[in-house]
Amino acid sequence: MANRPNSYVLEKPVYLIGFMGAGKSSIGRYLSRKYGFVLVDADSYLEEQEGVKISQIFAEQGEERFRDLETHYLAELSKTPQIISTGGGVVKRAENRAFMKEHGFVIYLSVTAEAAAARIRDTSTRPLFKDLETAKATIAERAPWYEDAASAIVDTVGLSVKQISAEVFRLLTEHQLISHV
Ligand code: S3P
Repeated sequence: MANRPNSYVLEKPVYLIGFMGAGKSSIGRYLSRKYGFVLVDADSYLEEQEGVKISQIFAEQGEERFRDLETHYLAELSKTPQIISTGGGVVKRAENRAFMKEHGFVIYLSVTAEAAAARIRDTSTRPLFKDLETAKATIAERAPWYEDAASAIVDTVGLSVKQISAEVFRLLTEHQLISHV
């Protein structure tokens, strides 16, 4: 097969964390396509398992219910050494931050509100991305939590998906988290 990716396996789960629009899903997809890593998007997995959209959970059952489900599926997904692109608010719970650090390697993709807004085309699917001012305040509030959870930080502003992915791959290599199969 001409486009068969190189196949690499991870030593332990690698969590991509960061605010909406930091590129968690895109970077996960790029790395998976290029290197053959197993990838799971935590939000999509939760929606598949629950049979309901996240925006609907927020609207009908509230954020706390969503956070309970998020914590539940985080543990389930952590049983496999794979790339896990997380939801932007996973760091809100100290329990999740401690869990990720204990079970894997956590990469914080940092972004500004302006850069995030430019990347998110349809904000209607993101119940917590209301406007630029709110996004700025949320990023400022969460920055200490992202930093607390992070094993490594990549500043994504001004970088392409390809460039960010290359930096993530370099970090995985440096920390001896990958082997070639
Ligand atoms: C959230 C981010 C979303 C999703 C939910 C809550 C947040 O994920 O988990 O809407 O609190 O920042 P993305 O970061 O993938 O958009």
